[in-house]
Amino acid sequence: METRTCIETRRSVRKFTEQEVTPEVLEQIVAAAAWAPSWKNTQVVRYYAVRTQEIKDRIAREGVMDFTWNTKIMQGAPVLVVMTMVTGRSGFEKDGSFSTSKGTHWQSFDAGIAAQTFCLAAHDLGLGSVILGVIDEAAIRGILNLPEGEEIAALIPLGYPAEEPKAPRRKAVEDLLTIC
Ligand SMILES: Cc1cc2nc3c(=O)[nH]c(=O)nc-3n(C[C@H](O)[C@H](O)[C@H](O)COP(=O)(O)O)c2cc1C
Repeated sequence: METRTCIETRRSVRKFTEQEVTPEVLEQIVAAAAWAPSWKNTQVVRYYAVRTQEIKDRIAREGVMDFTWNTKIMQGAPVLVVMTMVTGRSGFEKDGSFSTSKGTHWQSFDAGIAAQTFCLAAHDLGLGSVILGVIDEAAIRGILNLPEGEEIAALIPLGYPAEEPKAPRRKAVEDLLTIC
């Protein structure tokens, strides 16, 4: 797909068909997301692709801070991707001190770029996705038994779209851009 078309036609998809997302497709998407830029090329983002319905159901019930809107999305997705960040590297010096005044900001910055790259790569392959931020990190960490030294950045339900969402309006360029 042409880059501009891919960027403009990607939508947050919250309803999915039952079509399986194969490990090969997951590998293709992560291989593309691996090309996202990162702080000093630290590449701190990791992907846990949950395909087991029982685990997805637990995360959907216990990992949404009572925001049941997200529960439905997660339960209906063939794959629930949990994006994590290895902590203490992106934006950090070797001695563990912050590289900039923005502290831990840069690992989330890297994760955001990786998330969009992941979603665009998925869209290019005909899959839909949505980034979910309303999540209960501690609960999900416990369910997946995530390693020490990783924090959850976001969740991304993934599958083949069962809806074609209308594009939410975007701000006009003149509201966004100041040329100085
Ligand atoms: C950091 C972040 C967190 C988000 N969290 C949620 C969420 O918890 N639940 C949800 O349904 N959508 C969530 N979204 C999706 C946004 O609502 C969506 O991107 C926005 O409305 C624009 O729609 P579009 O992605 O189709 O262009 C999130 C998006 C981002 C980038």
